[in-house]
Amino acid sequence: MSADVQQPIGVFDSGIGGLTVVRALLEQLPHENIVYFGDTARVPYGSKSPQVVREYSQDDVDFLLSKNVKMIVVACNTVSAVALDVVQKRAHLPVCGVIIPGAHEAVLRSPTHRIGVIGTVGTIASNAYTHAIMHECPQAHVFSKACPLFVPLVEEGWTEHKVAEIVALEYLFPLLTKKIDTLVLGCTHYPLLKPIIRSVTKGAVHLIDSGEATAAAVKAMLIEQELFNPNRENPNVQFFVSDAPDKFTHIGEKFLGRSLGVVKKVAIGK
Ligand code: DGL
Repeated sequence: MSADVQQPIGVFDSGIGGLTVVRALLEQLPHENIVYFGDTARVPYGSKSPQVVREYSQDDVDFLLSKNVKMIVVACNTVSAVALDVVQKRAHLPVCGVIIPGAHEAVLRSPTHRIGVIGTVGTIASNAYTHAIMHECPQAHVFSKACPLFVPLVEEGWTEHKVAEIVALEYLFPLLTKKIDTLVLGCTHYPLLKPIIRSVTKGAVHLIDSGEATAAAVKAMLIEQELFNPNRENPNVQFFVSDAPDKFTHIGEKFLGRSLGVVKKVAIGK
């Protein structure tokens, strides 16, 4: 059965962070219907083993498939890094992760090809960004660093706090000594730390927002697969989580840059 352009794009993440990707999608594809799922009952994924993240991802995909989506966007960097193949195999639909678009943008923007990558422990351990960057640009030098304290800082709302600045300096200093000219923000939460990262890097490093790069890749994919919705009406954007919808609604506004409306709690997995 061929997909209908009005069907929603399915987006999933380990929790709330994927809303930065939805925000970029809404900016670049303002008329697409979207179903978002955040696995808030099992977040974080970034500190879990690849095996567990791969299992969880199957449940996330099954939920989106039950919503009759036309494509799947894996907003979570950790899932994109360790389980994209699982998603592709399960979905039988076009799938877009965040790693390849982010890596592509970094290669395009980096004048000296000395590129830093920051992300969760899982994303950095997988070397997925390094492989994707080296695949496009074999002469690149990639320096990566896991920044596990960034996610809780952002969720606490401490994006402009002195503590966040100290933590950012501690994490980023080793990358700056490698003379990187570009830094991939390889985690859904990190775009909210852009002001502090800019100040720590003294504005001398290009910051790559994987979410923005992904939204551009999704648009290209929709057009290529003839799934782009030409309808000019306001889209239907629905949010589902596996736990604590009120907390999601409250914190989510900062990530999305606008109010979310109704957030529904659903049971997934066995
Ligand atoms: N969404 C995750 C990512 O982009 C960050 C939060 C988590 O660890 O689950 O990797």
